[in-house]
Amino acid sequence: MIDTIFFDMDGVLVDSEPVSIRIGIDYFRLKGLSLTARDFEPHLGAGERAFFQGPASDHGIVLDYEEASAYFRSNYGRLLSASGGGFGEMPARTVRHLASIGFTLGLCSSAPRWKVAENIRAIGLEEGDFAVVISGEDVVRNKPDGQIYSLAARRLGKEEASCLVVKDSINGVAAGRNAGMKVLAVSTGVPAGRLAEAGADYIASDVGVLLAGGDMEGTIGNLTGAGDARKLYGANWIELRSPHLADTPVEQMIKLAARTRENAYAPYSGFRVGACLKSAATGKVYTGCNVENSSFGAAICAERNAVLHAIASEGVIGVETLVVVSDDNPPAPPCAACLQVLAEFTSPDSLVILSDLKGNRVQYTFGELLPHPFIFPSQRKQP
Ligand code: THU
Repeated sequence: MIDTIFFDMDGVLVDSEPVSIRIGIDYFRLKGLSLTARDFEPHLGAGERAFFQGPASDHGIVLDYEEASAYFRSNYGRLLSASGGGFGEMPARTVRHLASIGFTLGLCSSAPRWKVAENIRAIGLEEGDFAVVISGEDVVRNKPDGQIYSLAARRLGKEEASCLVVKDSINGVAAGRNAGMKVLAVSTGVPAGRLAEAGADYIASDVGVLLAGGDMEGTIGNLTGAGDARKLYGANWIELRSPHLADTPVEQMIKLAARTRENAYAPYSGFRVGACLKSAATGKVYTGCNVENSSFGAAICAERNAVLHAIASEGVIGVETLVVVSDDNPPAPPCAACLQVLAEFTSPDSLVILSDLKGNRVQYTFGELLPHPFIFPSQRKQP
């Protein structure tokens, strides 16, 4: 049984990349060079020297690495704390919760020790919150070698089979596997599908997934197996969100749809419709209203407007729930054209809730409203 969890730092408990880039831009500005994040991106993840030397070489300037490195160290902790560590309060809350229900926790990062210490402080934790802290200076063989995790287990006197490694990168997944441990991959940077291919046992959008489950057994049992991390919505595999993400209740979605309905442009029919949908990947909600046109056939329905709004905001979506509000009784369902558009982004068990203005509700599954959608042949993937 798993009773020990080893966290990686960057990409798992903190996201320091934006802060590092900020410091890099500020440093080169002091040297009279105006850079953007793009100048640093090709040199990320290859160590601090490459981070500064790369952009300097690209722009033909001589780098004083000692000075740049000192500038980085003197600004890093303060700016990272000010940014909330990148993932907000959730990582610290997760670590404290796991300790309180009995897990032994370790921190294994290939960053230098000073940086590990600043990272821990920036997210509101202390080194003592972990039973073991290993930095890049404690190991000679880097990931994908499993040495960093084997060393942590040995220091704690734990068997490999009782340890779970939490990682965000392909190399890190391999390192955990090479150490003979189970791996939970968080898709904060690399898509879930690639982490699954790399051999992750479980996949989640972030470490907040470890907050669910109640006790030690429930926490591990609650993790999503790598093969179940994505669900087919119409023509699209969508990564499922962590259950801890803020959820908008249906009542609130109805209110949002009713409010958006007020914006409907319906001078010809006078029939106003509001819609609100929830994205399966993020839990975020998006609204839409109907927009008519002098050329009647060019009218856009509220439901399609909401789908377009969602895709413009976060890219391809899976519709977990759709709410439609109209002044009609029984409350009006989506038209056939909207159902066909929705079919591209819904699963047969997506919920469709119809409401009138008095709050009378009818609920269907998408499969009940459109049992036989057209999906382009090559996109008919088997779950
Ligand atoms: N309408 C929608 O917004 N959603 C539907 O599913 C049904 C119809 C709008 C389109 C048009 O502006 C008005 O209602 C009357 O057809």
